[in-house]
Amino acid sequence: MTRAIRKAVFPVAGLGTRFLPATKAMPKEMLTVVDKPVIQYVFEEAREAGIEHFIFVTGRNKSVIEDHFDIQVELRDTLAKRSKFTELERLDSQMPKAGTVSYTRQQEPLGLGHAVWCAREMVGDEPFAVLLPDMIMQAPQGCLKQMSEQYNETGGNIVSVEECEPEEVTKYGIVGRGKDVPGGFEVTEMVEKPEADKAPSNFYITGRYILQPEVMEILSNQAAGAGGEIQLTDAMLALHGTQPFFAMPFNGTTYDCGSKSGFLAANVAFALSRPDIAPGFQAALREIIATRGSVEAA
Ligand code: G1P
Repeated sequence: MTRAIRKAVFPVAGLGTRFLPATKAMPKEMLTVVDKPVIQYVFEEAREAGIEHFIFVTGRNKSVIEDHFDIQVELRDTLAKRSKFTELERLDSQMPKAGTVSYTRQQEPLGLGHAVWCAREMVGDEPFAVLLPDMIMQAPQGCLKQMSEQYNETGGNIVSVEECEPEEVTKYGIVGRGKDVPGGFEVTEMVEKPEADKAPSNFYITGRYILQPEVMEILSNQAAGAGGEIQLTDAMLALHGTQPFFAMPFNGTTYDCGSKSGFLAANVAFALSRPDIAPGFQAALREIIATRGSVEAA
């Protein structure tokens, strides 16, 4: 019997230096893809997977994330007075239920592993999910939901993976491919940001994890790894020595919103999937590509 995944951790303490000046006063997780902040997509993915408790590991200058997941009384009143009931319903449907969101702070930027460890008291002694808001996914069924279904079959620990170009392995956590299991494969090793010729495969970790609580004990003593940071990947590798560990190739498309081109691609892809926006946007895109389709012509 596997224990249900009820809690999800969202590490949102990162500085977002790659998006300056947009992120000077605004958290990078609040950058919008079409008309929703990136963090809203990730929250909705967790909710679709049945998560009941949403744990945000924040940092300085991130309080607007708390405001975003709160009811704005004046805004609700104004929309109601103006009979904007569709907008009101949409806003309400995007809200977490009262009492289901917690916030804690990562006091120092010591790495992703440290950020996850900062949530240890809130997670307690049960398996949990981690969702990195840099990555947003498009799929008929959310990535974490797909993983939860796999978890019901296999238990253990699971990371979602996708294949990347061989030269891109240096940007990600990379897993080694072992025996196939239904829905994925056993992980043989994990390396954070390997050199291109040392990567065990081109399957990269796409920022969705289902982990057993023992990873927190490992993180308590985890030494700094790649980039001088405490890496979640290193702690998972240690956990892999004592517990089953699986990778699930995700059935859908991942957009790396931590990079400018990935973020812009996400905007295009999500806009094109919106019936209210797609027709006009498609025409505008065609026009841009026809007239300024290459860097030279721009
Ligand atoms: C983190 C993880 C890495 C993963 C990546 C996905 O790296 O450490 O294993 O592949 O997210 O976005 P970061 O992007 O924080 O450097």
